[in-house]
Amino acid sequence: MAEIREAVMVDFVRTPFGRASKKKPGFFADVRSDDLGIIAVQALMKRTRVDPASVEDIIMGTPTQLGEQANVARDISLAAGFPFEVAGISVDRACCSSMAGAHIAAMAIQSGAANIIISGGLESLSHFPNPVITPDTDLFELAKDYSARWQANPKIFDIIDPSAIMGLGLSAEYVADMFDISKEELDQWALRSNLRAAAAQSEGRFKNAMIPVQGKLPDGTVAVFDYDQSVRADSTIEKIRSLPPVYKPDGKINAASCSKEVDGAAAAMFMSKEEARELGLTPMVTVRSIAWAGIDPKIAPYGACSVAKKALERAGMPAQDIDLWEINEAFAVVPLVLIKEFGIDPEKVNVNGGACCIGHPVGASGIWLLGTMAHEMNRRNSRYGLASIPGGVGQGTAILVEREEYWDGRCAFLEKLEPASP
Ligand SMILES: CC(C)(COP(=O)(O)OP(=O)(O)OC[C@H]1O[C@@H](n2cnc3c(N)ncnc32)[C@H](O)[C@@H]1OP(=O)(O)O)[C@@H](O)C(=O)NCCC(=O)NCCS
Repeated sequence: MAEIREAVMVDFVRTPFGRASKKKPGFFADVRSDDLGIIAVQALMKRTRVDPASVEDIIMGTPTQLGEQANVARDISLAAGFPFEVAGISVDRACCSSMAGAHIAAMAIQSGAANIIISGGLESLSHFPNPVITPDTDLFELAKDYSARWQANPKIFDIIDPSAIMGLGLSAEYVADMFDISKEELDQWALRSNLRAAAAQSEGRFKNAMIPVQGKLPDGTVAVFDYDQSVRADSTIEKIRSLPPVYKPDGKINAASCSKEVDGAAAAMFMSKEEARELGLTPMVTVRSIAWAGIDPKIAPYGACSVAKKALERAGMPAQDIDLWEINEAFAVVPLVLIKEFGIDPEKVNVNGGACCIGHPVGASGIWLLGTMAHEMNRRNSRYGLASIPGGVGQGTAILVEREEYWDGRCAFLEKLEPASP
């Protein structure tokens, strides 16, 4: 049995996230999500200058494996011009899909089964929108509309109420009540998320990871976009407080305190520490622990918290040792509950905003959290970071990483990203 090796991440890139809305179509409304995935993978190859033949697998996360998103990892490996020997695996762990991909990459490298792996994710919510479920929704009618996407086995509904499985917003309302999180706290978090992301955008903090990508505005203007379209720099607490509840008439969650529907792709390159040294590449972070777990679907948003506990236990570390947290704002309640549970400083959590404004491109979100955190850890010289994400139908994944004092070498992630078109 080979000894356990250390797995490092050497680079992370992503596309801008375009708004996905029927009312106000975003700049990637007409773009195939696999094209966005190809752009992310090719940018990674260009920046790391790794020989394509030495990549052993391309992992792509997405829970919606239909049409352009079916068999997507293998399709991307072929369409992006990799040799036939570079394989592809498409991963579905609901919202946790691309973090599960990062787990697979880390485990393959740690065990010696592979040396270099690209792991990413993608989603077009313009093409595959999420349904909004309220207590009035006729789930059986909805199931007919969505039957091509998901035919849940009816036996599940003998165990748990259908709305608890399908109504993520309702489960977020339930968790907010369970942990006594007020509407005002949710609204304030939504505002914070927008203001932080807007400040990070204007300071160019995302530029190191973001590939400028060509898209189209509803008026037909074709342009290169290098920002996330759903961020609202002009967001105010008065406007947020005035928004109606989305999921139930007396609910606390409005359009600002839940994640934005967006289109986008992201990818990271993982390799063994020895391989990085040989290639003269300075890693961004080393993987210290990974964790995944299921959870009662009724409290799905709490999954980010329970799995973070597991990752900390695995690493033998207290929450207080973590310098930076990146927690998916599928709903504002997710980071708020985690802050409460661990008693941690909110100033260490989602420091540049999160999914409440930047968006939740479901299949890409897990790797986006990890990559965004790794860039910020390098910017501020943090030592430990923990990213976690809850998932639909009750799952969660987490990953704990360390930024070490590495050898002198080339930092792929400091090189400029060239504009790309789908
Ligand atoms: C809630 C949801 C249905 C809203 O969709 P939408 O109506 O297209 O959303 P919009 O972005 O247009 O926002 C609706 C309104 O809220 C306002 N708004 C949203 N966020 C705001 C903010 N931070 N500040 C000020 N106003 C805000 C918008 O301006 C808009 O108002 P307007 O109609 O006056 O322009 C959609 O975002 C959603 O389903 N999110 C959850 C996704 C989800 O469940 N993901 C899976 C989780 S695991």
